[in-house]
Amino acid sequence: MTKKLIIAIDGPSGAGKSTLSKALAKRTGYTNIDTGAMYRAVALLVNRQQVDVADDRALQELCCDLTIEFIRGAEQERVIVNGEDVSQQIRTPEVSLLTAKVAACSTVREAMVRLQRKMGEAGGVVLEGRDIGTVVFPNADVKFFLSATAAERGRRRYDELRAKGLDVELQQTIAEVEERDAADSAREHAPLRRAGDAIDIDSTSMTIEEVLDKMLQLVEQRQSRES
Ligand code: DC
Repeated sequence: MTKKLIIAIDGPSGAGKSTLSKALAKRTGYTNIDTGAMYRAVALLVNRQQVDVADDRALQELCCDLTIEFIRGAEQERVIVNGEDVSQQIRTPEVSLLTAKVAACSTVREAMVRLQRKMGEAGGVVLEGRDIGTVVFPNADVKFFLSATAAERGRRRYDELRAKGLDVELQQTIAEVEERDAADSAREHAPLRRAGDAIDIDSTSMTIEEVLDKMLQLVEQRQSRES
C-alpha cells in the first residue's frame, strides 16, 4: 500500500499557494487544508463577537468551541465554521486585515496548530500556510516553499481584483503585498520562514501547470521511495 504523505506548502501571499495546493490535492486524491482560512475564520468570529484581541481568555474560549470543515465542491471549496458556510465572509478586506492581527496571537496559533495536526496526522493531506514545514509538521514528507517576486505577486493580485471589477492601482497593490510580507515575516510567533529542508519553487516566470507538474514529479519521487 502506498504511504499517505503529509505535504506542506508554505510561502508569502500571492505566490500561488491556494491554487496549487487545491490542484495538487485534486491530482493526488488528498485532502486540502487551507490554514489561512482557519485564521480567517477565527478573525470573522472575533469581529462578530467583538472580542478584544488582547483578551487571551476570550480568544481561548472562542477557539475551543470552534469546528472547521473543508468541503470540496465541483467548482469551489467551501469553508464551514460552526456549521455555517462562511466561504465568502472570510475573504472581505475587513476580515483580511483583522486576520493578520489575530494570526499574531499565540493563543490562537496554539489552538490552530493543534487542530491542524489533528486534521493532518493520518496523512493524505496537502496543507498550505506560512508555518507548516517549520512548526505544524516539521517532519512533513514533502515541503515546498513557493515564492515569486513582490512585483509579480502584486501584479497577480491586481489582475484578480480588476477582474472582480474593483478600481485599484497597480503600484498601491504591490505596496500592500510588500506590507503584508513584512508583517508576516516580522511577527514574534511563527513568522513566515523557509524550512531548511524545503524545496524552493520560484513561480515568477512559471505557469500554474508548470509548477504543478514539478510538484507532482517530486511527490511521485517521494512516493516511490516510500513503497
Ligand atoms: O493565506 P491567507 O492570505 O488566507 O492567510 C491569511 C492570514 O493568515 C495572513 O495574514 C497570514 C496568516 N496565516 C498565518 O499566519 N499562518 C498560516 N499558517 C496561514 C496564514
